[in-house]
Parts: sequence; C-alpha cells; structure tokens
Amino acid sequence: MSTEIVLTGIKPTGRVHLGNYIAAIKPALQIAKDSDCTALYFIADYHALTFIQNRDEFNELSYGIAATWLALGLDPDRVIFYRQSDVPEIFELSWILSCLTSKGLMNRAHAYKAMIDTNEQLGVDTDTGVNMGLFTYPILMAADILLFQSDKVPVGKDQIQHVEIARDIADGFNRNYGETFKLPNYVVDENTSVVPGLDGRKMSKSYSNTIPLFETADELKKLINKIKTDSTPPNEPKDPHTSNVFLLYKEFATPSQTQVFRDKLVKGISWGEAKQELFQVMNNYLEKPRNKYNDLMASREQIDRILFEGAKKARALAAPMLEKVKSKIGR
Ligand code: TRP
Repeated sequence: MSTEIVLTGIKPTGRVHLGNYIAAIKPALQIAKDSDCTALYFIADYHALTFIQNRDEFNELSYGIAATWLALGLDPDRVIFYRQSDVPEIFELSWILSCLTSKGLMNRAHAYKAMIDTNEQLGVDTDTGVNMGLFTYPILMAADILLFQSDKVPVGKDQIQHVEIARDIADGFNRNYGETFKLPNYVVDENTSVVPGLDGRKMSKSYSNTIPLFETADELKKLINKIKTDSTPPNEPKDPHTSNVFLLYKEFATPSQTQVFRDKLVKGISWGEAKQELFQVMNNYLEKPRNKYNDLMASREQIDRILFEGAKKARALAAPMLEKVKSKIGR
C-alpha cells in the first residue's frame, strides 16, 4: 500500500506577507504535519523565470521563499523540499508533454488569456509581453505534478484550471500510450478566510496593503498602527466581526486569547489599545520564525544543503518514472 502523494509548488514572487502565510503556507504545513502522506513541496523557480528576469531579484526571491517555509516549521525530514531547477527530469518530461499538448489548450489558459485581453484593450499587438515560458507555463506545471504521480495538489483558486490542464494532459498521454500517469486532483481550502490588508481590502501585493511576515518588530508595530479602523469612539462597543484588527488577531492567538479579546472589544477598548494587543500576539508568534529566517538568509549554504538533499530524494522518485515514460514513447 503506498501512501497518498501530496505535491505543491511555491512560486517565488514577492516578499511573503501575512495573507500568503494564513491562506497558503499555514494550511500546507498543516497537511504535511497531520496526514499520513508523502508530501513534496518545491520552489517553482523556473516558473518565476517567466516574469522575473533580473538576476539578483530572482536569486533573492528563491532563497527568501525557501527560508520562509523552513522558518515557519517545514520539516525537511517529513516533506521532500526541493528547488524545481535542481530536478532536470521535470524539464525533460515537460518537453515530452508539450509535444502531446495542443496549442489550443494553452490558448485557453487564463493567465495567458488575460494578457491577450489586456493587450487587445490597449490596442497593442496581442502577444506583447508574452514569452513562450508564460505560454507553456501550464505544461511545465503538469510535468511538476505528473512526474511524481501526485494524488492531491493543494492550490489557491487561481490555480484550479492549471491542475485540470494537468489532468487533461495525463489523460491524453494515457489514451495514446496506455495507463501511465495518475490523474491528479486539486485541493482548495475553503475554510481559509480572506485576510484583510491595511486598507481593509484583501491583503495583496497588487493593492500595496500588505504586512510583510518577517518585518522587524518596530516596523511591524508601525504597520499595525496603520490598519484602517472605523470611527467608533474609544469606550464604545466594537463589532469584532467587522474589525480588521480582530480578524488578524484570531489568526495568531489561541482560542482562549481570542475569546478574551472579543469580550474586550464588545465592552469597548480603544482601537489604539486593541492594536497594541494585536502587536503583542503577532510579535510573540513571529519572533522565533523571524530569527530563524534571518539566520537562514545569512547562511545560504544551509538552505542549499537542505534543498539539495530534497532534490536527491525527489530525483530518486522522478528518474524511474521518467524512464517509464521514455519506454512508453518508444525511446
Ligand atoms: N503555478 C503555481 C502558482 O502560481 C505554482 C506551481 C508551479 C505549482 N508548479 C506547481 C502549484 C505544481 C502546484 C503544483 O502558485
């Protein structure tokens, strides 16, 4: 009996913020901890290359994201944690799959389509800013997933279509060459709340309303003080459910702390005091991971060592699968 394979890719994009942590990192770490599965989590650095083409930025972001997950408790003894670009088998499979994938399927992929639509609206050439990596992005993602016979792929809603494309590609291969790939399923965590940003809208890099996860304590305090609140006077009761301060608080506090804080808001404490309390719980929670993150970033060989070990394990799984695929296609 083999255990279930859970795999997900982490694209290094920008500085990791609280929204990323609560909506994506925390649930993924929980899955790896709780369930009796084989978890493979990897840094999708070559996916990021489709739009980060500055050497230093690319390098910094890749290490930064690896250090973030390790600092937050990813245990490399339990999770096979690797960098995509350290596993060449993925790229070989990607080519094979691309030969079996119709261009039409890629035309329908939403990230590409969105760019085409924008270009049309702007009245410029439809392919402006589209590189081939962006166009074939879903095929590389299919290779990531299929090479490891993944059963479950935890993703955000925006990635559902990509996992469906991976299924289609697997199915197409299987029909032509006989049963080879497992058909993967996406897993979307419906419970994760939308994390409010400083202005109350969803916390997102594109709104510039984020709180970076590993900000210094001083900076964190400053940012928390910028969280938008309503104009309820200091002693008046406040509604916890519409309060951004409360919504953030409960993500970092124990249930009993949350209860106490809720009561205080309902009785009426000032927003200033409430923010002070938010800072306390958050800073307590983040202090250790922040230190660990800083340590790791100061010794990148440590990160490399962990990722290379992970890549070794990943390649041990990937190599026989790739051989199988090659024998199916007649190589
Ligand atoms: N495309 C994903 C994202 O933007 C990252 C990713 C790359 C991925 N390969 C994957 C996710 C394989 C799941 C499985 O977030």
